[in-house]
Amino acid sequence: MVGSQGSQDLSGRVALITGAASGIGRAAALRFAEAGAAVMCADIDADGAALSAEQVTAAGGRAASLALDVTDEIAVEKSLQQTIDTLGGFDVLFNNAGVGGTVRGVSDFAGTLDVNLNGVYYGLRYGAELLATRGGGAVVNTASIAGLVGLVAPLPMEQRMQEGGGIAYMASKHAVVGLTRQFAVSYAKHGVRVNAVAPGYIDTPMTHMIRDGAVVQEGFEALHPMGRLGRAEEVADAAVYLSSDRASFVTGVVLPVDGGYTAR
Ligand SMILES: NC(=O)c1ccc[n+]([C@@H]2O[C@H](COP(=O)([O-])OP(=O)(O)OC[C@H]3O[C@@H](n4cnc5c(N)ncnc54)[C@H](O)[C@@H]3O)[C@@H](O)[C@H]2O)c1
Repeated sequence: MVGSQGSQDLSGRVALITGAASGIGRAAALRFAEAGAAVMCADIDADGAALSAEQVTAAGGRAASLALDVTDEIAVEKSLQQTIDTLGGFDVLFNNAGVGGTVRGVSDFAGTLDVNLNGVYYGLRYGAELLATRGGGAVVNTASIAGLVGLVAPLPMEQRMQEGGGIAYMASKHAVVGLTRQFAVSYAKHGVRVNAVAPGYIDTPMTHMIRDGAVVQEGFEALHPMGRLGRAEEVADAAVYLSSDRASFVTGVVLPVDGGYTAR
């Protein structure tokens, strides 16, 4: 896979990806490596992160893995130096770890904000600063359509959007949009670009309740003008673009990857 078309986009770069054990993060590990980057796969799920790194290596890329809880501020700061020590650099942070409103199996307002908001903030605070001191780089945050508009969900999800972790998810993703814009402005003169991807409903373990039939799959598909859910690789490709020099004049942007969801 390495050496395929477009492989020069991130060649020589080192990317730290959080939430890399699953879904969008794992797809991103593979796509970033395909684009030439060495990848540090970080996740609270250490075994899953190690498996992602193995998959990158098996495909011909360079990767390592790290157990990281993004709610641990000190651990987030340390993970940056660990990336440099292990892979020889640090040029890109894909601040992607997140929970869907449920922490350890229960709907959790504070816990959701801790991961989705605080975790992203720690990455930005230490990551953007370190990139600036190293001469520049790129941060991509994973926001959501839930950071751009209120969501209309098919029943029985409607109720979930109004309480506990569901509403915390909405608040956290709107906050990620705010963090993205402010860090972009603050670091623009320091060579650090800060952008976000805003996925629609993507077929990953986070949305298993759609696939497993607990909610009506067609209802969710119909919310997207393209009439389907997105794939993790489609979000990963947008993150690769925003991380690469092809986006050299792009900062403070929140890029929907949503099959037209927010265009309606
Ligand atoms: N799947 C969707 O429909 C969708 C839509 C919009 C945005 N997103 C966002 O995309 C990102 C990735 O989600 P996904 O769909 O790949 O879900 P996923 O559940 O497949 O992956 C999320 C990963 O984050 C990790 N994680 C959770 N808490 C963590 C913590 N405290 N520290 C470190 N890692 C932690 C999990 O272990 C998991 O590997 C999230 O920020 C999510 O909010 C997903």
